[in-house]
Amino acid sequence: MAVIPKILVFAGSVRSGAYSGRTADVAQKELAMQGAEVTRISLADYPLPILDEDLEKEKGVPENAGKLGGLILSHDGLLIATPEYNGSIPPLLKNTVDWVSRVRRDGGRPVRPLAGKVAGLCSSSKGHFAGVRCINHLRAVLVRCQMEVVTPECSVPEGANAFDEDGHFRDERLHKSMEHLCRTLIETSRMLSTRIEA
Ligand SMILES: Cc1cc2nc3c(=O)[nH]c(=O)nc-3n(C[C@H](O)[C@H](O)[C@H](O)COP(=O)(O)O)c2cc1C
Repeated sequence: MAVIPKILVFAGSVRSGAYSGRTADVAQKELAMQGAEVTRISLADYPLPILDEDLEKEKGVPENAGKLGGLILSHDGLLIATPEYNGSIPPLLKNTVDWVSRVRRDGGRPVRPLAGKVAGLCSSSKGHFAGVRCINHLRAVLVRCQMEVVTPECSVPEGANAFDEDGHFRDERLHKSMEHLCRTLIETSRMLSTRIEA
C-alpha cells in the first residue's frame, strides 16, 4: 500500500491577510485533495529570538525551535510559501530556518530535523516579479541544510489581485503550477519518507 505522505505547510509571513498565507492556503487544499495528510501551522505560534550564538551558548536552542524541529521530523515534507524582502528571504523565515538547523537532539536522540526532508516552495509578492528572486535564495539555503527541494515552484505575482473571494487563484496557469508542485512534492515525499512518528 502506498504511504500517505505527511506534509507540513507554513508561510514566511504572519501578517494578517498575507499573500504568502493565502498561497499556503491554496497549497494546503491542493495537497489534501491530492491525498496528502496536511498539517498547517503559523510561525506566529513559534516565536523565536534573533539567532545570536552568545544567546545559544548561554540558554541553548529555544524550546520553540525544538518544537518545530520535532514537528518537521514527524513529517515527510514541507511546503513553504515565502514573501520576498529586498530580493531575498524575509527575516522571520530565515531566522526560523537558522534556529531549526541548530536543533541537534529530540527527546535524547541525535537529530538533524531538516536533513533529508523534502521541500516544495511557493513565493508571492505584491509586484510583477512574484518573489522569484527570494525563492532562488531560499532554495540554496535549504539545500545547504541538506533538504531535497523539488524543482517545480509556484510563484504568485500581484498578490492583491491573485485570489478570488473563495481564496482560489484567478489565473488558471497558477492553479496548474500549484497542482504540478504538489504532485511532485507528494511523489518525492513518498519516495524519500524518513519521518519519525512523534
Ligand atoms: C522590507 C520589505 C522589503 C520588500 N521587498 C520586496 C521585494 O524585494 N520584492 C517584492 O516583490 N516585494 C517586496 N516587498 C513587498 C512585499 O511583496 C509585500 O509587502 C508583501 O505583501 C509581503 O508579503 P506577505 O503579503 O506575504 O506578508 C517588500 C516589503 C517589505 C516590508
